Amino acid sequence: MNIVVKESYEEMSSACAEYIGEYIKANSGKVLCFAAGDTPLGILQNLIKMQEKGEINLASMYYAGLDEWVELGYEDKGSCKQFMEDNFYTPAKIPVENIRVFDGKANPDEETKAVLEFIKNKGGLGMAVLGIGMNGHIGFNEPGTSVDFAGGKILLSESSVTVGQKYFNKKYNLKYGVTLGIKTLVESEKVVLIANGEKKADIVANSLKEKENPAFPASYLTTHSDYHVFLDNAAYFKIKS
Ligand code: PGA
Repeated sequence: MNIVVKESYEEMSSACAEYIGEYIKANSGKVLCFAAGDTPLGILQNLIKMQEKGEINLASMYYAGLDEWVELGYEDKGSCKQFMEDNFYTPAKIPVENIRVFDGKANPDEETKAVLEFIKNKGGLGMAVLGIGMNGHIGFNEPGTSVDFAGGKILLSESSVTVGQKYFNKKYNLKYGVTLGIKTLVESEKVVLIANGEKKADIVANSLKEKENPAFPASYLTTHSDYHVFLDNAAYFKIKS
């Protein structure tokens, strides 16, 4: 495990984007999987800037969805699909055939099958860039999820539902998510975890200190042989203390 700690969110986003950019330059045609959410936004914006400067070609990669709120689609502001399309796929000019994300309005089992098949057909996950929830979830792998879970529909924890309201401008009655499972994520050639802010410090410390503890789903990543963590100082401070 390699941990990179930066002073601020901006510096962390830029360092992580550099790291991903180097991967893109050397690994055209591989599958990337990005978490949606507040944490990755700065990274996605940096990657688009790097493309505008001619440093990388984002359309040379494939993109698989990580997760989605069941029953939400692009038209629901705050869905993962809306976030990724508006903040990344559209401004980065990624061809639609290079992308397969979850449609929360469609059948979750069929969607999971389609996303997993897309990943398999393109040679497996090359790099997964994951955020971490306040309860330690990665994607929607909630605490207690089995390491053998490849993906599918999942009952959302109370924490995910409550914290998730920050993405929406209206009230949704959310109960389920659909996600790539821990098994699929640990099979990715490279895994990147990103976190910023003091509010994540406890869960980050537990998830990095513990090994394969179902109470902290991100702890399953600690035994991955190519695991890189990018944090700002605020998210790191409980690790060093
Ligand atoms: P956030 O979400 O980046 O909006 O904090 C993290 C997550 O739940 O994966």
